[in-house]
Amino acid sequence: MASYPVKQRRFVLRASLLSVCILAALFMVQCGIGNEPAHFVKEPLPYTLEALSPYISAQAMDLHYNKHYAGYVKKAIALTRGTDCGGKSPEEVIRMTSGDEDRQAIFNNAAQAYNHAFFFNCLTPEGGGAPEGLLAEMIDGAFGSFENFKEAFVSAAGARFGSGWAWLVLEDGQPAVFTGSNADTPIAHGLVPLLAVDVWEHSYYLDYQNRRAEFVETVLDHLVNWDFVASQLPEMEAQTEQAETDTESDAATPADPQEAASAAAAEEEGSSHADEAHHG
Ligand SMILES: [Fe+2]
Repeated sequence: MASYPVKQRRFVLRASLLSVCILAALFMVQCGIGNEPAHFVKEPLPYTLEALSPYISAQAMDLHYNKHYAGYVKKAIALTRGTDCGGKSPEEVIRMTSGDEDRQAIFNNAAQAYNHAFFFNCLTPEGGGAPEGLLAEMIDGAFGSFENFKEAFVSAAGARFGSGWAWLVLEDGQPAVFTGSNADTPIAHGLVPLLAVDVWEHSYYLDYQNRRAEFVETVLDHLVNWDFVASQLPEMEAQTEQAETDTESDAATPADPQEAASAAAAEEEGSSHADEAHHG
């Protein structure tokens, strides 16, 4: 009889603690705390669905962009919600899950979301041909000529067994051709991606059936956005960042007081002469 109040007190204490935990969990869910997905969004297509026709049809682009790519983004969001990938960038999620068999599904969808967004940015109407400037010099230096690069790229894309991707990357600072199966991506190997071509069958089968090499050659000849590819070079990125910093700095820096005073005096003097001329 003497222990009954103690048991009762313990029961009340445990019930109270459980209630507090439930309320805290409900509050966290309500606020999105611990339930945040990684930063995957369906990136906008930088051209219309029909813009790459006749090389890639509107129907093929619609399926690729609005079904396949959108599906990877949706699954990447769902699979990373409430995990330690919450709040991370696609690149971070790829590095965190690469080689982890337990998180293969997260890696596959994260890498496919990243790869597709990159691929769509690599294309543009009226694109293709050979690059210019620093990128052209680097390709010539690594492959001997642009034609040699093109041959190596098309050959590697054709040799990739099954589904996958063909890439131009920087490996130790030098341009190189890289191919990966399924969702594999240069990001997972410490390589710098420059150009991606999707060689999954869903990418070309509707327009090219089994002619994968023809599809890859057509992309290189007519669709590659070499300005985007060149912008991925670390040297170009550094230049862009420096230019943006300079612009912000110029906008934020107040005018030199002496220069401002001189300019004001000159303006006043000019105005005075103008007045004299007008009155004269
Ligand atoms: Fe694809």
